[in-house]
Amino acid sequence: MANDWFETVHEARRRAKRRLPRSVFLALVAGAQQGLTLRDNVEAYSEIGFSPHVVDLEDEPDLSTRVMGQDLSMPVLLSPTGVQAVHPEGELAAARAAANRGTAFGLSSFGSKPVEEVVAANPQTFFQSYWVGSKEDMAERAQRAKEAGAVGLIVTLDWVFSDGRDWGSPQIPSDIDLRTMIKHAPEVVFGGKFRYLWEYAKHGQLPELSVPNMAVGGQAPPKFFDAYGAWMNTPQPSWSDVSWLREQWGGPFMVKGITRVDDAKAAVDAGATAISVSNHGGNNLDGTPATIRTLPAVADAVGDQVEVLLDGGIRRGSDVVKALAMGARAVMIGRAYLWGLAANGQPGVENVLDLLRSEITSTLMGLRRGSPSELVRDDDLIVPPGFTHDLGAGYGNHIGVPVRSEGA
Ligand SMILES: Cc1cc2nc3c(=O)[nH]c(=O)nc-3n(C[C@H](O)[C@H](O)[C@H](O)COP(=O)(O)O)c2cc1C
Repeated sequence: MANDWFETVHEARRRAKRRLPRSVFLALVAGAQQGLTLRDNVEAYSEIGFSPHVVDLEDEPDLSTRVMGQDLSMPVLLSPTGVQAVHPEGELAAARAAANRGTAFGLSSFGSKPVEEVVAANPQTFFQSYWVGSKEDMAERAQRAKEAGAVGLIVTLDWVFSDGRDWGSPQIPSDIDLRTMIKHAPEVVFGGKFRYLWEYAKHGQLPELSVPNMAVGGQAPPKFFDAYGAWMNTPQPSWSDVSWLREQWGGPFMVKGITRVDDAKAAVDAGATAISVSNHGGNNLDGTPATIRTLPAVADAVGDQVEVLLDGGIRRGSDVVKALAMGARAVMIGRAYLWGLAANGQPGVENVLDLLRSEITSTLMGLRRGSPSELVRDDDLIVPPGFTHDLGAGYGNHIGVPVRSEGA
């Protein structure tokens, strides 16, 4: 057991890579097109410095916070992610881990476990929906999540269907049948990925490729790719559609995928409780700046009207503290917990949350702050000139990722 413990999120990634079949691992690390945004999401944090104190430090900072009406023990939530075929317990393991660590779980509508089971595993579950199908379909899925006890709805709006990935898009099969097993056998056998299969064998199941929470009209759960196809064929909603969905839901409501100030203001007008400054972990339009660059302008513009969260590129507790000091109430993590899940199931996700908690704690202590709300951007951080982007704020715009020379 002790051997399964890892010291950093990067170590979890290494173990996930070792354990997962190549195509499954690639689906976890994927970014769109050239991967500019994917890299910038992570690397931008290293451009920001700290100005720590050395005496009179805080003993035990209080990390608790409140997001969408939920009391959380730390300002880190699990962001909704589909494709949790990294472990047989998938979303249930991740949801339980979040519950054990006192935080919320975002269940993707493209997840592999029914919302009823996930809410039972973590009562602080937010259900995430893309805009797929008719308004009736949207309302039906939201209603099911509500009846199951989901305590918030996340509507994800940031998706540009970018294809042509330089790293090669993952070959996710549409079904697990004999043909698929024969096709993927070499990467499992020659790649030495027996432990991955062993986990599934222990649970007496195969990787799940249907999406139970996308079912509507009493039909059987669609396969991942059928649901994906339906999504591709659904036009993006208008802000009045978003407002309509919020009214249907009638509870805490997050708009995920905001990068611009004008969109943040529109989300406020649509009645959002929270927004997440997000570019889908670099899986949206490549060339969109890192979320940490666009967060401050959004937080400054609407932070007093809506809860502002950020997701994208969080790999360390110090990244979390930088985002909090730049104006986020909390952050959501994606790949970090998926790697933990792949590396060691539920304890692996707990391991990731524990690492982040202790790193957030030590960073706050060094900054002599008793809680995230005490952070002061200009006093605690060293932010280089030109780092932030006021997208859609109507002044001083810098569109795109800044050009940095190799090794700079
Ligand atoms: C494999 C994978 C699947 C994802 N699936 C979804 C999804 O179904 N719904 C959603 O809103 N976001 C999805 N996301 C985006 C995450 O919620 C989040 O925005 C992103 O992972 C944050 O960046 P990070 O991975 O660098 O932490 C997915 C991300 C990954 C890596």
